[in-house]
Amino acid sequence: MTTIAVILGSTRPGRNSEAVARWILDLASARTDASFELVDVADHDLPLLDEPVPASMGQYQNEHTKRWAETVARYDGYVFVTPEYNHSTSGALKNAIDYVYAEWNNKAASFVSYGSAGGVRAVEHLRLIAAELQIATVRAQVSLSLADDFENYSEFTPREQALPQVETMLDQLVSWTKALESVRAEGAPAS
Ligand SMILES: Cc1cc2nc3c(=O)[nH]c(=O)nc-3n(C[C@H](O)[C@H](O)[C@H](O)COP(=O)(O)O)c2cc1C
Repeated sequence: MTTIAVILGSTRPGRNSEAVARWILDLASARTDASFELVDVADHDLPLLDEPVPASMGQYQNEHTKRWAETVARYDGYVFVTPEYNHSTSGALKNAIDYVYAEWNNKAASFVSYGSAGGVRAVEHLRLIAAELQIATVRAQVSLSLADDFENYSEFTPREQALPQVETMLDQLVSWTKALESVRAEGAPAS
């Protein structure tokens, strides 16, 4: 069964990302074409990157890196749930992404973002980062407004219009995730 991680990209106390990620997980769990699991960056206790060798060399030394690599490797695709911090993604999510390399390669990903402008600038940065990691990112994304999809910027109350956006995003993600399974089975070209 194709398995996709919903990656919760904020570690901040009082974070909005948990409600958003759980909402995506609930909607995705109704599907029969893939299974979905929550992966919370906060559960992985990753310090600021402390590996001496760049992840693309595949020489992970620390136990926390090896555990995180096993988690990332378990999934065929990813939904990144990201806040927008200073027009980019969170430092915690970027740090977690930087820790490993091969485990991301030839997988598909999509994005759910939130912020005053829907978090779209965070997603634009993440798309560039994903390209370097050989992650294929689908076009459809879900952008939630702090003013309109949250009460008092903190209680998640998504507007109905978000639902078809989620469905389209998941349709594209599942399709590309399955397509890339054959790329990985054939053995990916050397990076
Ligand atoms: C350090 C920081 C920087 C932020 N910068 C932006 C920003 O550039 N644009 C924006 O729309 N919201 C910005 N915000 C608001 C966040 O998007 C909002 O607080 C969101 O709920 C954060 O996600 P989280 O609650 O899951 O951590 C910022 C918040 C923080 C904490």
